[in-house]
Amino acid sequence: MPLYHKLGKIPHKRHTQFRKEDGSLHYEQLFGTIGFDGMSSLLYHLHRPTQVKEIGKTLDVAPRAAVEYNITSRLLKGLDVKPEDDYLESRKTILFNADVHVGLAAPKKSMIEYFYKNADADELLFIHKGSGVLKTLLGEIPFEYGDYLVIPRGMIYQIHFDTEDNRLLVTESYHPIYTPKRYRNWFGQHLEHSPLCERDFKLPQNLKAHDEKGEFLIKVKKQGQLHHMVYATHPFDVVGWDGYNFPYGFSIHDFEPITGRVHQPPPVHQTFETNAFVVCSFCPRLYDYHPKAIPAPYNHSNIDSDEVLYYVDGDFMSRKGIDKGYISLHPAGIPHGPHPGTYEASIGKTGTEELAVMIDTFKPLKLTQTALDIDDGKYYKSWLE
Ligand SMILES: [Fe+2]
Repeated sequence: MPLYHKLGKIPHKRHTQFRKEDGSLHYEQLFGTIGFDGMSSLLYHLHRPTQVKEIGKTLDVAPRAAVEYNITSRLLKGLDVKPEDDYLESRKTILFNADVHVGLAAPKKSMIEYFYKNADADELLFIHKGSGVLKTLLGEIPFEYGDYLVIPRGMIYQIHFDTEDNRLLVTESYHPIYTPKRYRNWFGQHLEHSPLCERDFKLPQNLKAHDEKGEFLIKVKKQGQLHHMVYATHPFDVVGWDGYNFPYGFSIHDFEPITGRVHQPPPVHQTFETNAFVVCSFCPRLYDYHPKAIPAPYNHSNIDSDEVLYYVDGDFMSRKGIDKGYISLHPAGIPHGPHPGTYEASIGKTGTEELAVMIDTFKPLKLTQTALDIDDGKYYKSWLE
């Protein structure tokens, strides 16, 4: 996050004595990325963050490819993924490669018995249904329908839901997730033409330092394995922190669409970037206003990227038979475009209420058995006249 933020109490000077009321020292931790070269925060703990008590079982949670080499356009019915009580068990990877794992989750219960950390990947949670609070080492972020939650790798968190009716699109990125560089100035500030800016971000708040000793289970995901580690103190014992590396939220409803006289290409919808994929937000907007404009997109060959579109709400103008929670996969190497009839039908329309999240990966995606289980199996023929 190209933004400085500070919560709680911190010493005037970094790496200097910062004492508690009883005269003992706080424990400073640098929480950084990309060696010592990326964004970082300095945290002040009540206890050493290194007190491992036990290392328990390890579960293999790496996704398995049911389809390794995919050339088939597919339509996956995302809401067919069954709800499960536990948050981590509810997360089902459907598409993946070495750079990114895309999954669906319908968790019913809040995470209370344990804490979770993804040591390898930044996580991007999109809240399709539900609300609650993301509780982290660095404070809390309340969330609701339409929020993206960006959780940098290594961040210990719990997620609490208000009800049992939750639907999440889960993206695990093995490359850091940033807002698009072309929308930021040399200092990192978002420029005037950016469709999102600092004022839109939901920053951590309500930092509470838990001074508790005992047994605290942290499930740590690393190299496709879920390690069960027991720590001797409550992981949320930070009294203060400052810096640039922290979780944040951004509502898709705050994305300001860029429109034009003629059809604008997908990059105008870009919301996040990584070295290996982009995330775009398709939001309600006015259509192209050239007198002869065709608002529906042209056929296009996404030669270099697999295109995943998650339909959130509204009618999707270029597709037929699409419902909420459906996911289309248009693989690299073959062209795709609007369905028969939608191209002509879009002429003269003045706006759209469509809401969707797109993930374009630069390397091909593999499919898991879960993806095949919710595949409609006939989408690839849906352009036949
Ligand atoms: Fe496309």
